[in-house]
Amino acid sequence: MNYQEALPLITKKIAEISYPKQPKELYEPMIYLLSMKGKRIRPIFTLMACRLFQENIKCAIDVALAWEIFHNFTLMHDDIIDNAFLRRGQSTVHTKWNKTIALLAGDSMLILAYKYIAKSPLQYRDILLHLFSSIAAKVCEGQAYDMLLENRLDVRKKEYLELVRLKTATLLSACLYSGAIVGGASGQDAKFLQDFGINLGIAFQIQDDMLDVYGNSSFGKEIGSDIFSNRRTYLLINALNICDEMERKELLFWLNEKEQKEEKITAIISLYDKMEIKKKTCRTIESYYRRALFSLKKVNVEEEKKVDLVELTKELMNRTS
Ligand code: IPE
Ligand code: IPE
Ligand code: MG
Ligand code: MG
Ligand code: MG
Repeated sequence: MNYQEALPLITKKIAEISYPKQPKELYEPMIYLLSMKGKRIRPIFTLMACRLFQENIKCAIDVALAWEIFHNFTLMHDDIIDNAFLRRGQSTVHTKWNKTIALLAGDSMLILAYKYIAKSPLQYRDILLHLFSSIAAKVCEGQAYDMLLENRLDVRKKEYLELVRLKTATLLSACLYSGAIVGGASGQDAKFLQDFGINLGIAFQIQDDMLDVYGNSSFGKEIGSDIFSNRRTYLLINALNICDEMERKELLFWLNEKEQKEEKITAIISLYDKMEIKKKTCRTIESYYRRALFSLKKVNVEEEKKVDLVELTKELMNRTS
């Protein structure tokens, strides 16, 4: 089952979710965000991981859906935290409605995600509930570090990587791990898929940081938003680490500029260009991607069964959205 085959399956399942009728102010924003065109890579990873170990992926559908709903909950709250007004090319929930609605609808999605986890096959339910709770806690920790590093000039790459592992990679990794588990994988194979997911997740988030600067309108989020908000991205941390005195002065000048001026984006990008930050970032993404593939290689199933996973990760590495 390749990505093109899995996508309509997930879209259909999402469309079939039933919500209480009232209050519609709470449920409409959930439906709004969930029905937008996301890539759906998390549930698709769950299905693909399950497929490595058995033909019938029915047992993985509820878990897969739970991860996508959970992911959308994190996006809804993340957009409040980041003051973002665009998501998947459309208005964010808190700008279309308001922050209170976005908080409550987000909370309700987290609860809905739990309900889907609780529908998973009985023999794995305990493991999955435990996994789900621990991942949810880690994402919150990651988001908290993201906020805590915001004003520091001495953020080390190591700290950034830890925050990215928490806020993004653990979820991607759990999607793969859980798919493997319900598919009947051995503990060792599930662990290799977990490692695959961690490295892929780190590559994915660094790439998200890069697309925030160098992407185009198909990215579906405001280009330059991380620069405007002084977010400690892989690009900025790298720049702060390697800049000379003049470049540092200029960087600090723009970091102190609180107004959302277009010139700030242009100036920071030209600093990045001078320091070859894009090239360096691509190299790092590539190296995490290679590490990911190395873990996938270790999974003890025929290589041809892994083709769909490999293809999907390749496509992700060349993504524009
Ligand atoms: C966005 O995730 C949040 C990050 C972890 C960078 P995706 O890029 O998977 O978003 P959608 O679901 O496809 O919109
Ligand atoms: C990932 O970080 C957010 C989550 C863990 C939800 P970002 O803040 O960079 O994600 P985007 O760019 O808004 O999708
Ligand atoms: Mg964020
Ligand atoms: Mg964000
Ligand atoms: Mg981002």
